[in-house]
Amino acid sequence: MALITLENALESIGTKGYGIGAFNIANMEMVMGAIQAAEELNSPIIIQVAEGRMKYSPLHLIGPVMIAAAQNAKVPVVVHLDHGSSLSVISQALELGFSSVMFDGSQYPLAQNIEMTKKIKELAKKKGASLEAEIGKVGGSEGDYENIEVLITSVKEAKQFYEETQVDALAVAIGTIHGTYKVAPNLQFNRLNEIKESITCPLVLHGGSGLTDDDFKQCIAKGVKKINIATASFESVVKKVGAMFGNSRDITYFQHSNAVVEATYENVKHHIKIFGSDNRI
Ligand code: 13P
Ligand code: ZN
Repeated sequence: MALITLENALESIGTKGYGIGAFNIANMEMVMGAIQAAEELNSPIIIQVAEGRMKYSPLHLIGPVMIAAAQNAKVPVVVHLDHGSSLSVISQALELGFSSVMFDGSQYPLAQNIEMTKKIKELAKKKGASLEAEIGKVGGSEGDYENIEVLITSVKEAKQFYEETQVDALAVAIGTIHGTYKVAPNLQFNRLNEIKESITCPLVLHGGSGLTDDDFKQCIAKGVKKINIATASFESVVKKVGAMFGNSRDITYFQHSNAVVEATYENVKHHIKIFGSDNRI
């Protein structure tokens, strides 16, 4: 169907009460699996790659694959840069034709995060792309960075940040972490609701892997429209490929490739159904 912006994708949700999954991918097979799931379920989808993973998936190679997949898909697809932190990578994504980028300035003091986000908003606007930003700190890491602590987003700061930056989507920290949960997270639904009541900006939930169906549903009811899933897809691939090799020594490279597509497809499909974005086109 089409490559669409994050702004358009989230706008189309309106008050219908569902969320759109943003699935991290690392290679062509994962892109194929994710798009296949969205097409089968008649769902919009966001595919994304994080700046911290570019050692494994160089942007100049994976970017064109993502864009071509979006342009040829039967459903609307947002091609998004996840956790962009450097101006050079964000500019490169915009030059490649990404329809959305995230600037993650959450490690900076609020005023500095606002200033930097405003500059990147101008760059994205020139290219007709959307911008996601973050305040508060989601724990864990998306890439090979040091772990950071969770810092729940303040309502006052969210309000000030949104008023000054007018970003298209705002990632908030409500107790999730990136990666695998060792103990169940203590999600701050009340805080999420307070943020939703104070700003009109669509909210983004990072660290989605490992949350319960009910957690997702509550987050969606409290203003989350974009839900990031990375670890669950990567683990699903490792599990399937591992099981294949465990069972047989006669696996061809192409059987392995198919398993990567299939495992991604299964995980994406599972989450699309929970988020309720199926049959929304
Ligand atoms: P998980 O790896 O915990 O699913 O987090 C995804 C994410 O937030 C990507 O930015
Ligand atoms: Zn994230």
